[in-house]
Amino acid sequence: MFDSGLGGLSIVRALIDLVPGRDLVYFGDTGRFPYGPKPADEVAKFAMQITEVLLERDVAMVVVACNTAAAVALDDLQDRVDVPVVGVIEPGIRAAKRATVTGRVGVIGTVGTVRSGAYQRAVARIAPDLHVLCAACPGFVEFVEAGDTDSDQVHVLAERLLAPLRAAAVDTLVLGCTHYPMLARTIGDVMGRDVVLVSSAEETAFEVDRLLAECDGAHDDTASNNPTITNQTATTAGRHEFVTSGDVAMFRRLGARFCGPEVKRVEAFHW
Ligand code: DGL
Repeated sequence: MFDSGLGGLSIVRALIDLVPGRDLVYFGDTGRFPYGPKPADEVAKFAMQITEVLLERDVAMVVVACNTAAAVALDDLQDRVDVPVVGVIEPGIRAAKRATVTGRVGVIGTVGTVRSGAYQRAVARIAPDLHVLCAACPGFVEFVEAGDTDSDQVHVLAERLLAPLRAAAVDTLVLGCTHYPMLARTIGDVMGRDVVLVSSAEETAFEVDRLLAECDGAHDDTASNNPTITNQTATTAGRHEFVTSGDVAMFRRLGARFCGPEVKRVEAFHW
């Protein structure tokens, strides 16, 4: 799994809760975050580079736990890589479709995600009956990476950036950036308790589990020789590895806070 930094840990948490026995390796590209303001081709290049690093570790699947990277690189990665590659955009829309009553849904994400039109395309494909309003929230990711999730400054920024969504009276808000669940309290305060906040974390975890189970089935004969596709039980803890291209101590500290005690040892990676 990978993200520009700590955000994808929201997906890691959901996956560990759902299938504690799976081994996983998480790459946080903290040294090169944020991805949101960067040009699409640069983010796509980063996504390919990280995928290659993960493939060298013999992963059975790649989860693009970053909306910005999924928005610009998912199709290409799926074409170029031999293992299944899963993104976070369609799972988020599926969750919103289930949650909304009025059909008026807001999506917030980085500038890169919103500019790419990936959410709008996915909605047209899988939930055309929804009325969707997308808004970019530049600055949110930087606050999370600094460990600031509920200061007055974050609150003021959220008030300003979320105003159009409040005015549009959405009843459901998709957190279309994997960093945003860390800001859920602030976002929820600003949007009001009648608005359901939807993250793609659980839905993505279900999809990953389903696809891995299919892989297990397909590899049943060889599973005993390959630790990445072993049919592990929910009671055996898997091996959870964390790698960052940025500050290791900071990643460990904030990672443990946002994800949990699984973030113990963090490996440094240098580009
Ligand atoms: N977590 C990434 C996402 O889901 C954040 C991108 C960034 O680094 O700006 O889009």
